[in-house]
Amino acid sequence: AELLDRIPVIYLHLAECTGCSESLLRSDSPTLDTLIFDYISLEYHETLMAASGWQSEEILETSMEQHKGNYILMVEGAVPMAAGGTYLTIGPHAHTGEYILRKAADGAAAVIAVGACATYGGIQAARPNPTNARRISRVVNKAVINIAGCPPSEANIIGTILHYVLFGTLPALDSFGRPRWAYNMRVHDMCERRGRFDAGEFVQRFGDDGARRGYCLYRVGCKGPFTFNNCAIERFNQHTSWPIQAGHGCIGCSEPDFWDTMAPYEEP
Ligand code: SF4
Ligand code: SF4
Ligand code: F3S
Repeated sequence: AELLDRIPVIYLHLAECTGCSESLLRSDSPTLDTLIFDYISLEYHETLMAASGWQSEEILETSMEQHKGNYILMVEGAVPMAAGGTYLTIGPHAHTGEYILRKAADGAAAVIAVGACATYGGIQAARPNPTNARRISRVVNKAVINIAGCPPSEANIIGTILHYVLFGTLPALDSFGRPRWAYNMRVHDMCERRGRFDAGEFVQRFGDDGARRGYCLYRVGCKGPFTFNNCAIERFNQHTSWPIQAGHGCIGCSEPDFWDTMAPYEEP
């Protein structure tokens, strides 16, 4: 009975780099195997499934049909719309990303965009956006939950899925469609270098004495004061580290259109 109760999840890869899936794989609480054996039934995920070619397309078709109205659709990647969508075609029938996304979203109980590409278009949609890449929410006619970040942490991805699994509802969202439990804090307010900022101790250039002492990275481009994410607390790779701990400023990866709006990322 337990197996039948698991919520079906269909996970699409559109125009993206698979970094978000890599992040998801790092989960430790729960681990990915616990997640897929106990809580969800991962029906389709191009880089994790054993099937390929005709077989994988058949699995996608069958699971969309079989679980119509009940599955969670997770999407990694933006949707290229230029030239009739032909910058992204997938599978033996060369369906466009737009076609597959619309079809999969039609039968979904909930649509979750994973990562900067899916939530806000990501680097594909950065100027001059040659493929006219769009965010998921501008293509599907359903509410979309945006798990922002490039990539988002495994905690933010899995926490959002588990919220749905455990409560049967979607988490409260902010004005950019991000789950509030993960994105309602400024990076700057949770940062371990905040004391350095308050004391006026700044790295002046990468590699200087201040950098070695862990001073604040604001003067070398940190966008933490303008960015909402919980990465200072959750970190990445099983809570090992995060950009600022590693010595680089935040580049604002969880904010809409950050490739265009947050640059330059390093100063001077
Ligand atoms: Fe890759 Fe970043 Fe896009 Fe995720 S959001 S697919 S990590 S480019
Ligand atoms: Fe704020 Fe960035 Fe300095 Fe941290 S490193 S205190 S986020 S400006
Ligand atoms: Fe992204 Fe900034 Fe966190 S770049 S991972 S929001 S520190």
